[in-house]
Amino acid sequence: TAETPFVNEPFIDFNDAENKRAMKQALADVETQLGREYDLVIGGRRLKTDGKIVSINPARPTQIVGIHQRAEAELAGKAVAAALAAFPAWSRTPATERAALLFLAADLIRERKFEFCAWLTFEVGKNWGEADADVGETIDFLEFYGREALKLDAATTPIQFPGEHNQLRYIPLGVGAVIPPWNFPFAIMAGMTAAAIVCGNTVILKPSVDAPTIAAHFVSLLEEAGLPDGVVNLCQGEGPGFGSAVVAHPQTRFIAFTGSKAVGLEIHESAARTQPGQKFIKRTILEMGGKDAIIVAGDADLDAAIEGVVASAFGFNGQKCSACSRAIVDASIYDTFCDRLQARVDQIKTGDPAENVYTGPVISPKAYKKVLDSIEIGKDEGRLLNGGITIETPDGGYYISPTVIADVSPTARIAQEEIFGPVLAVIKSQSFDEALAIANNTEYGLTGSVYSSSREKLDRAREEFHVGNLYFNRKCTGAMVGAHPFGGFNMSGTDSKAGGPDYLLLFTQAKSIGEKI
Ligand code: SER
Repeated sequence: TAETPFVNEPFIDFNDAENKRAMKQALADVETQLGREYDLVIGGRRLKTDGKIVSINPARPTQIVGIHQRAEAELAGKAVAAALAAFPAWSRTPATERAALLFLAADLIRERKFEFCAWLTFEVGKNWGEADADVGETIDFLEFYGREALKLDAATTPIQFPGEHNQLRYIPLGVGAVIPPWNFPFAIMAGMTAAAIVCGNTVILKPSVDAPTIAAHFVSLLEEAGLPDGVVNLCQGEGPGFGSAVVAHPQTRFIAFTGSKAVGLEIHESAARTQPGQKFIKRTILEMGGKDAIIVAGDADLDAAIEGVVASAFGFNGQKCSACSRAIVDASIYDTFCDRLQARVDQIKTGDPAENVYTGPVISPKAYKKVLDSIEIGKDEGRLLNGGITIETPDGGYYISPTVIADVSPTARIAQEEIFGPVLAVIKSQSFDEALAIANNTEYGLTGSVYSSSREKLDRAREEFHVGNLYFNRKCTGAMVGAHPFGGFNMSGTDSKAGGPDYLLLFTQAKSIGEKI
């Protein structure tokens, strides 16, 4: 595959009868595999622990998706040792071989696409389209980073100094901790892992406790593709116990994390504290939250703006760091926009993602409570247009109806704090200047979008809207690998640009060699 240029994996058309049948079949097949127990994988060895992590289906909490081991802090040393032991051989494995592993893994996932979609539906409550986007992005990351690694391997110094042979080699860092989130539990988990290992690093992968099963299947698939023992050590565990211990370990060279601001900052602090015996400065690659805004200018195409806001705010229930949680709407169209948005959101159906309903449950009881608490705050801070209530089902899923609160002040709590759920604040702006100022006035800077038909306004936003991923006249979610390198400014993280040409540099250190000839 290295010879063919990268193209994004096409989305599955679920209107096609054959694809619909295949998805239903995959759901039925995967349902028979629910509830199995999975082991830790350290140095290629299967391991059990006394404590367990139980992953449940958020649409049907009595349904156990998988039972996993629970690594405690004591296991951190063993996991790091296994990764260290694998490092010398893996770091010297030719880049072509390491890339070939990623390409083969991508092929294997392609063959089992519907099955992976089904796992995502059961484990985190993604509808078919959202699940497919996650699987497609996983394939994209593998294909893209494989090619990028080959490019990096062929790097040369910009100049050959007369009388010398000059070389620039990007060598791996060492052992890394990969700590992914539950909301893109396949793509981000696999993407961070693949980027690390394709550069020759070895890792301890600590998936989210809310999405351990998909990670266990990915590691099995890597093994099937020929992953040597100890290159990826799968350690299911809690952040505060095992995760913190791996981050703090003196031989952990880097940490690749995607998740909340609070945890990202803790990792940053812990990594900055030099441990006895530590020989290097740890590197952190952190992707955190967002309070992302869509600006709707007075001259916007309103139909397109409403569709874009709805998709960005309520796709996968707003459980994306890229989700639109603020719509900033020009006063000249504000009332019309609110009326039409309200009517549109009323049409959204909420229910079991296995039946491909537009919005499903939120991820966990903890998220359910947090989102409902935010909604209570929001009701005092604005005018409730939609939702604000739970939806009870016989299965006891964590359903909250899509919630829109209008007339929100730009400094209100629901306009400043990340909620990570189906809650949208609508804010009125008196001018485009003011809209930009409101958009920029949070501690985050991840994604943003502007709907306008004015070139001048878009050009101003290009300069002044301070976010890592800016979009015009389209939704602010759904970054495509290669086309929209992803990562944010300020408290949104280290702007590491996953799926971009610079990403692998973060997992390497450059060595310059000059030889007199
Ligand atoms: N990359 C995702 C998006 O753009 C968020 O992680 O929606």
